[in-house]
Amino acid sequence: MSVASAVAHPNIAVVKYWGKRDVAANLPAVPSVSLALGPWHTRTQVRWGADADAVRFGAHPAPPAFAAKALAHLDRLFPGRPRCAVETTNDFPTGAGLASSASGFAALTVAAAAAAGLDPSPDTLSRWARLGSGSASRSIPGGWAAWWDEAARPIAPPEWWPVAMVVAVVAEGEKAVGSTAGMQRSAATSPYWPAWLSEGPALAREAEDAVRARDLERLGAAMEASTFQMHATMHTARPPLIYWQPATVAVLHAAAALRQRGVGAWVTMDAGPQVKVLCLADDAPTVAAALAPIALRTVTLLPAGGARRVP
Ligand code: PMV
Repeated sequence: MSVASAVAHPNIAVVKYWGKRDVAANLPAVPSVSLALGPWHTRTQVRWGADADAVRFGAHPAPPAFAAKALAHLDRLFPGRPRCAVETTNDFPTGAGLASSASGFAALTVAAAAAAGLDPSPDTLSRWARLGSGSASRSIPGGWAAWWDEAARPIAPPEWWPVAMVVAVVAEGEKAVGSTAGMQRSAATSPYWPAWLSEGPALAREAEDAVRARDLERLGAAMEASTFQMHATMHTARPPLIYWQPATVAVLHAAAALRQRGVGAWVTMDAGPQVKVLCLADDAPTVAAALAPIALRTVTLLPAGGARRVP
């Protein structure tokens, strides 16, 4: 077998990864908890033994920085590897705080291993995916996952709890400062960094317990605490990292107003302007309708499974 394809879903952290305790090994400074979401996905094919290294993104050759990252990941996993052709597509925007690196490195890792004739355990695949992008470790198990150390582990499968994540897209386009540079700037310059590190483990435990208990209010409160603590380290970095747009703030207020009306809607944000609103799946149409006048568009995502080989 020298060709294989894989699919992986993005995941959104309810308790955030932000900061590295070991940069070379890409180990996290704080534990994170996430939910994999579909139907959005990345689909990647790897073919070992090509005439030259080639990375295609959609119908075109990938941008050089994108291709370099993918090939560097393969160099690290397979030192002295043969040349390869990689073809990847996303059915959602890349690099705008919508977790494309998570699904991208998860799909690349699974496809590359399968094309090499290997069948590593999910734990090993998660360790490998982590080397490309920390959040990719969590897209390997899919569903609800926790990442504390070398590999992410599953907490509950996607069907455990009928929730939805309503993504309010408030700005299109690639982010100005990527996650790795952003977290390193926060760690190096924010006076609130020590507080971020000390609060993280308790927030992750709280979120894991809330998922197991299917307690949306408890999970929502932990998720918002993690989100705003992370953004506090961004806002207080030097120079500050402000990913928010005016419509970001408007969505935060709209979610709070929904809660006052008795609709359980809780917000999270990553290194970008979009707001993701966690709610029960039955409430997703109400939440999406409330956000539609503010956002450019809304997309309702549902819990999804892990990264897997496809024909
Ligand atoms: O996996 P990376 O290096 O793209 O970092 C992801 C960082 C956040 O999205 C901000 C938080 C998270 O846990 O996904």
